[in-house]
Amino acid sequence: MRTFKLTRRNLLGAGVGLTGAPWLGALRSVSAAQLLGFERVAASSADEVRVPRGYTARVLWAWGDPVGHPAGSPAFKPDASNDAREQALQAGMHHDGMHFFPLEGRNDHGLLAINHEYTGEDLLHPAGMTNWGRAQAEKSMAAVGVSVIEVRLGKTGTNDNIGRWEIVRPSHYARRITLTTPIRIAGEAAGHPLMRTTADPTGTQVIGTMMNCANGWTPWGTYLTCEENFQAYFGAREKIELGAAQRRYGLGERGYPHFQFEPRFDLAITPNEANRFGWVVEIDPYEPQSVPVKRTALGRFRHEVAVPFAGASGRIAFYLCDDEGFEYLYKFVARDAWNAGNRAVNRDLLDHGTLHVARFDAGGKGDWLPLVYGTGPLTSANGFADQATVLIHARLAADALGATRMDRPEGCAVDARSNAIFIACTNNSARGTAGAKEGANPANPRVRNLFGHIVRIKESNDDPAAASFRWDFFALAGDAARPEPEFKGNLRGDAFGSPDNLYLDARGVLWIQTDVSPSALGKGPYAALGNNQMLAADITTGEVRRFLTAPRGAEVAGCVLTADTRTMFVNIQHPGEGSPSTWPDGGRPRSATLVIRRDDGGVIGT
Ligand code: FEO
Ligand code: CA
Ligand code: CA
Repeated sequence: MRTFKLTRRNLLGAGVGLTGAPWLGALRSVSAAQLLGFERVAASSADEVRVPRGYTARVLWAWGDPVGHPAGSPAFKPDASNDAREQALQAGMHHDGMHFFPLEGRNDHGLLAINHEYTGEDLLHPAGMTNWGRAQAEKSMAAVGVSVIEVRLGKTGTNDNIGRWEIVRPSHYARRITLTTPIRIAGEAAGHPLMRTTADPTGTQVIGTMMNCANGWTPWGTYLTCEENFQAYFGAREKIELGAAQRRYGLGERGYPHFQFEPRFDLAITPNEANRFGWVVEIDPYEPQSVPVKRTALGRFRHEVAVPFAGASGRIAFYLCDDEGFEYLYKFVARDAWNAGNRAVNRDLLDHGTLHVARFDAGGKGDWLPLVYGTGPLTSANGFADQATVLIHARLAADALGATRMDRPEGCAVDARSNAIFIACTNNSARGTAGAKEGANPANPRVRNLFGHIVRIKESNDDPAAASFRWDFFALAGDAARPEPEFKGNLRGDAFGSPDNLYLDARGVLWIQTDVSPSALGKGPYAALGNNQMLAADITTGEVRRFLTAPRGAEVAGCVLTADTRTMFVNIQHPGEGSPSTWPDGGRPRSATLVIRRDDGGVIGT
């Protein structure tokens, strides 16, 4: 495989940097005002959350805190002895993607939908993995999925002038969706023979969702939760031969022991169950009785995000990332325009449309390759029997189309002013190493890419349905002061690595959350960066400023601001992983949602 050396000439040729792409002129003129006014936070390895002077970060809702469901609000037991029934009424573990849904358009009252990506079984049970059995499996299945909580900014009874966000309990919106919640399967793959099991001969009903990593939302007010590392739940008690498609999805590599108690996770007994995970699930937070829906038109892979880009014409696209080294960036384009005036019309909009995968070419150009049965290599002769097979085996279809292998595409954010789309490629230390799938390519220019990068895309004519795009690098993560190309960043300001979640607020600030793995935190080239962090980037000037540092062992995952940009919600995930932590309350470390406000109640980031 050809290698792509990181030289200045190559980078400019690919459109790197703020001078490289002529279409950036429009971006620059968008905002001349200073976006970032806060005092930078120093890198930290302390076991606490730090935010700029003049700001306060409070823990709003940690693992085990009750959601406020009318059926009961069991308190968290610090020795982790809550059982599965209680856990199903409490915050799940390891908060990740999140979105705020206002009630009556308000900035001080709304719903938070929060992903609980996975469980740390050592923390979830009083005895950890010792004597792990059915009761532990059941609690574990109740500790993943999604929560909806009602939150409100209270102004009375507090001793400060910024008000305190509180959780409304009980609330008829409060809800947990777990690995035991009935979910409907919709779209082209629903009912297909590959989706049928003995328990569900129709192939249209699945029990639960899990590995809900990052997220998205729709302009009609629904939440999109993305099933990422679903393969970890599947195993087999007897030795089995895996097929090519199963291997392509990493089945049988590693995992949780649930298959020993749940035959549906045993690949020898229920091989098709794994086809029913790895999807984007749509949830209506405003309708607590509504059944969540797996939208198969968006393809099956290790989904990370589903972020919308709505064009002026009502056409809408969703950007979708497959988070693994050498996997792909996808885009789903809905067939029909969305309707701002009639929510019911949009109910099944995500069932009809075209999934595409990105091919990035040198010179800053790229194409969206449609995953459509009968097109190009996607035929029966190549193992694709129909459109449902193309969607269920989307990774294989993207391979056949020659899409560009990316460095763990994860976060996505769309700038409503410039229509620029930002995609975080977290890292890929394997790229270009012996035995790796390939060396550098134009959109992934660094071998042993430890620090990651952020790609910026502009659709042709700013059309969500465009078949082609322009692209450049918004960020090569790293430290601008370092001489080594693989560690050198291209942005001004604070060094960072492993960008994961992205969020663009209403003022145009790009919030970048990092996920340096616990095994690398504070070591080697990461030594000076301290704990994981969240930074604010000015997308017009390329300045990056550190806003928050996480407790030990944690990553920062999930960010949303209210429309007035005066309240920010941020998730702290897996404190204590790889290094001891007692955050947030001095005991067992707990993932949690933070609420961050300026002490004068002002606009965040200024
Ligand atoms: Fe769950 Fe891709 O991080
Ligand atoms: Ca992530
Ligand atoms: Ca992550």
